[in-house]
Amino acid sequence: MQIFLDTANLDEIREAASWGILSGVTTNPTLIAREKGADFKSTISEIATLVDGPISAETVSLDGEGMIKEGREFAQWHPNVIVKVPSTTEGLKAVYQLAKDGIRTNVTLCFNAAQALLAARAGAFIISPFVGRVDDTGVEGMQLIREIAQIYRQDDQIKTQILSASIRSPRHIIDSALAGAHIATCPFKVLQQSMKHPLTDKGIEQFLADWKARQ
Ligand code: E4P
Repeated sequence: MQIFLDTANLDEIREAASWGILSGVTTNPTLIAREKGADFKSTISEIATLVDGPISAETVSLDGEGMIKEGREFAQWHPNVIVKVPSTTEGLKAVYQLAKDGIRTNVTLCFNAAQALLAARAGAFIISPFVGRVDDTGVEGMQLIREIAQIYRQDDQIKTQILSASIRSPRHIIDSALAGAHIATCPFKVLQQSMKHPLTDKGIEQFLADWKARQ
């Protein structure tokens, strides 16, 4: 399973890229808005210089025509740009047309496996089920990844990649990999937490103490 970073913060992207673990980046309007004063096009173009992999840029139109127009523009910014559209019928129209144009899409805000199946049929490159937000409703979000993985596995024609989104903890990363996700997109903090373990810290401390005390 590949690891993407879910942020528009260039410092976080630079840092995570230096760890050698990053295969791509996802953004959304909220994440872009969080970077006060940053221009959308410049941010996406800058990210593309830091990470050599898919960079998702999200449309804000509600109608298919508008999404297609935005998507065609984003695709000119960099060959690695993936156009994000919502899991709606208008989103499907955009996926279908953009795929015919040779433009890859990421169908976001997916909350049931039927949305994932239809997105794949329309030609989505990536489907993004939102695990954490499903958990918030009291339903186990990881079940969504399992269902989509099983449905996609049973159909040789489906090449759509499952991207586990709305990741809130290292446990979500582990479970996404076990459930069959191709990608997990993670907040920077969760990646940091993933590499933190009290026994790792304790072990380092002990090794250093023994090294200093050697005869
Ligand atoms: C995915 O592409 C989304 O940007 C993201 O994972 C949303 O996560 P949230 O539920 O933490 O906002």
